[in-house]
Amino acid sequence: MPATVEANPIEGLAPARLPQGDSCLLIIFGASGDLARRKLIPSLYNLACAGCMNPDFVILGTGRTPMSDEQFRAKMREAASKASDTREFSESVWQEFAKRLHYFAGDITDPQFFSKLRDQLNQMRQSGSSPNHLFYLSVPASQAPTIIQGLGAAGLNHSDGGWARVIIEKPFGRDLASARQLNEIVLKVFDEQNVYRIDHYLGKETVQNILVFRFGNSLYEPVWNRNYIDHVEITGFETVGLEGRASFYEETGALRDMVANHLLQLLALTAMEPPVAFDADSIRQQKVQVLRSIRAMTVDEVAKRTLRGQYGPGEVNGKPVPGYRQEPGVKPDSTTETFVALKLFIDNWRWAGVPFHIRTGKRLSHPGTEIRVHLKPTPQALFATTPEDQRERNVITLRIQPNEGITIAFGAKRPGDQMRTVTVQADFSYRAMFGSNAPVAYETLLLDAMLGDPTLFTSRDEVEAEWRIITPIEEAWTEHPPPDFPNYAAGSDGPPIPATLF
Ligand code: BG6
Repeated sequence: MPATVEANPIEGLAPARLPQGDSCLLIIFGASGDLARRKLIPSLYNLACAGCMNPDFVILGTGRTPMSDEQFRAKMREAASKASDTREFSESVWQEFAKRLHYFAGDITDPQFFSKLRDQLNQMRQSGSSPNHLFYLSVPASQAPTIIQGLGAAGLNHSDGGWARVIIEKPFGRDLASARQLNEIVLKVFDEQNVYRIDHYLGKETVQNILVFRFGNSLYEPVWNRNYIDHVEITGFETVGLEGRASFYEETGALRDMVANHLLQLLALTAMEPPVAFDADSIRQQKVQVLRSIRAMTVDEVAKRTLRGQYGPGEVNGKPVPGYRQEPGVKPDSTTETFVALKLFIDNWRWAGVPFHIRTGKRLSHPGTEIRVHLKPTPQALFATTPEDQRERNVITLRIQPNEGITIAFGAKRPGDQMRTVTVQADFSYRAMFGSNAPVAYETLLLDAMLGDPTLFTSRDEVEAEWRIITPIEEAWTEHPPPDFPNYAAGSDGPPIPATLF
């Protein structure tokens, strides 16, 4: 049922004001890359619009492309003004913001790069910039070790009179062994408390709300277990394709790109035990516990409980689009998956026997990320005059995006003289209730990193627990390449999923 979007009638329910970040010098590696342009700079600019930037906040972009400060500013201005999640562009805010943007060109593989960067930071410090250094690794996972070791060798893992923190983008490694290795490298240089492994799904308001829905209400938690829940579906559908990121995606695929982090985090928040407090350690501990309880698959199980797909040519939103193998930068015989379906089981007391169905894909018919919790039917079919196929079970849908909200489906008596039931919905819409100005994920997370709050970032143990589930699947898939790609048309609902899987 589409929610009616209206102006917020209750002023007090508008999103709460965000705090102001600490003074800080943010150093972005990969500053001329896609993520910086699409998400980081627009989010930082939005924080400036919301008045959350400390007067002593400065950004130093680094990258291989030679550029002057002026050229960098012009490029970022275009990015901030174009970004779809940017509020109306304000030239006056931009002019003030642009003064804080600087650029430092260099190649991280150049042995002198990190000492030159240190000199640059010292120079900026002498001209009054903040002693708090926040390094953002917006680079492919393979470059992270070089940067971390370079920062350590140049002594940039501490800052006199301030702090030094590092934000590392996903995917964190590409399997369990490389994630462990990267963790070891990182933790030789930075303390865990200064390492912020980002998974932007955790910054989404609706994702944080999973914890509030479960643990801030007494109504749902008593039924949130194997006694009452039949199965759970976690879906992340996208209509977008590669968006110019072919080389990244060819190396990554849907399982590593979406399931190994975003969707497993949704699962962890949906299935974890209550934390003893709402703080980083307590929440992360419970997430790790539940991730560790997910049954890792054997090769046989991978064949039965997973499905992968790749899109061929088709039509999305009425426009013809090429197949994955025809996208620029993709190998014509690529076996990279753009669609994944998995059936996972959590071996613990709460969830024994309850299947968790995970699905994600690109170039599908409609976008939608949601968690559907299907409850078991009533023990007795009391209203037997309702035809079997109309006896809908209770379903709780947590809509992460779009049309953010929560729907609860339940049976009601259909007016008339017979006791026939019909499924109706109680619907909560974020927009109708709170308006549409909630901060976007990267704004929340950048601000939290500046404030030193790691609650919405993943710990070492969490990323390793995630790879423990994903790596055996990747290994089995590598051994048995898909014979039938492409197996769904762009703009469809993905490949047919066998009944054993869903
Ligand atoms: C990114 C993936 O982490 O998440 C992309 O690399 C994906 O491939 C994106 O499109 C989805 O994020 P969102 O916030 O648009 O759901």
